[in-house]
This record gives sequence, C-alpha cells and structure tokens, in this order.
Amino acid sequence: MNVIFLGPPGAGKGTQAQRVCDALKIPQISTGDILRRAIKEQTPTGLQAKSYIDAGKLVPDEVVIAIVRERLAMDDCKNGYILDGFPRTVPQAEALSTFANIDAVIDLDVADEALVARLSGRRVCLNCGATYHISMYKDTKCQKCGEPVIQRDDDKPETVLARLTTYHAQTAPLVEYYEKKGILHAIDGAQDMDVIYNTILKTLGA
Ligand code: AP5
Repeated sequence: MNVIFLGPPGAGKGTQAQRVCDALKIPQISTGDILRRAIKEQTPTGLQAKSYIDAGKLVPDEVVIAIVRERLAMDDCKNGYILDGFPRTVPQAEALSTFANIDAVIDLDVADEALVARLSGRRVCLNCGATYHISMYKDTKCQKCGEPVIQRDDDKPETVLARLTTYHAQTAPLVEYYEKKGILHAIDGAQDMDVIYNTILKTLGA
C-alpha cells in the first residue's frame, strides 16, 4: 500500500506515520527528515535547502522531486510506503503520478491555533526522527536511541506562522486535487493520538 500523509505543519503526520509504518512494516519517507539530515551533513542539497526551511518556505520542487524519486526506487519500498510531507504542491503531485501509484491519501485536519501550540512544545530527535511534546515528555534524551531531543529551528513562533501561510497557499490545494481522484480520506487530527491511529488503520483496511 502506497500512502500519502497530508496536513498542515504540526498536524501529526510524522507522529502517526511512524506508528503506522512500524505496524505495517513499511518505510516512512519524510522529506523534512531527509532535508534536515542533509543540512546536518552539509551536503549540497542541505546547503541549498537550509535558507528555505529557516524562512518557512518550501524547498524548490525539482529538489524534493529528485529526492523522492530516488528514494522510492529503493528495494524497501517494494511492499509499500508512507510519504510524510510529500507532495506539498500540485507540481510535486503531478510529478509523483509519473513514477508512483498512490492508493490512499490521509488528510489530517487541525485548526491553526492548535498547531501553533503543538509546534512550540514539540521536541525532536535529529538522530532517529522520534517526536515528542513537552507536555508529555520531559526527558532531554530520546527514549528510542538516547540522543538529545531538541527544538527544531523552524518551530520558533515567527517561522511557524510563515509555514502555516505557506501551507494554506501552496499545499492546501492538494486536498481538492486528491478528492477529485477519489482517494482522499479526511481525519480529524485534533482527536486523541490513539483514536487517530486506529482510524487510520481502519481506513487503510489494515
Ligand atoms: P516537515 O518536517 O515535513 O514539517 P511539516 O510538514 O511542517 O510538518 P511537521 O513535521 O512540522 O509536523 P507533523 O505534521 O509531522 O506533526 P508531528 O507529528 O511532528 O518539513 C519541514 C520543512 O522542510 C518545510 O517547511 C519545507 O521547508 C521543507 N520541506 C519538507 N518537505 C517538502 C516538500 N515536499 N516540498 C518542499 N519543501 C519541503 O506533531 C507535532 C507536535 O504535535 C508533536 O509535538 C506531537 O507530539 C504533537 N501531536 C501530534 N499529534 C497530536 C495529537 N493528536 N494531539 C496532541 N498533540 C499531538
């Protein structure tokens, strides 16, 4: 099963993708994680992406399309995958349709005010990608791999607002795009995490 997780920043795409991928034993492909790793390793892609991410803007389509095309060609994607944070523009969705068959799009819907609170309290492990919220996790080390958990630079308030503006202008049109294709499943992302997780599994028939 090839699935897209769609939704604004902080909607819970990463949190849910990680759990669902663990359950279904398929890879989670997060373009945000791939780009952050590239920044950490100071690769040419990372150096190019950094200024866009810091400004709350999208990295150019051609850069992320090339990343995803290469990733989906890998062996571990043969039995399915979850795309977390890709596509984010209509041109990305159109490019994706030339090299992948998508079975379902899960759209997590959360109001902007709740997203700001979620993102300002989020802590992440840059080593393994695990995500926490300070209201539920006080430790400074990741419970999965023991590396430090930190606040992402783009979770600072001014960047969060820019990311929300970018989402509404460039990514929200994908809701209608996939609705027209008949594969969109909207889920209320403001619910309890376990309720959302179970709804996703049921929606995917897993
Ligand atoms: P990316 O890393 O993809 O960030 P994002 O889409 O902004 O999504 P987030 O990771 O912020 O949120 P999420 O939905 O995964 O929420 P999470 O589960 O962490 O992208 C970063 C940047 O990279 C972009 O701004 C862009 O510049 C670039 N980029 C990436 N992909 C690109 C692309 N395709 N094209 C161009 N540029 C691209 O949850 C958030 C918090 O809420 C956590 O603390 C979590 O614990 C908590 N939480 C989750 N669910 C719940 C719940 N149900 N109730 C209460 N709290 C919850």
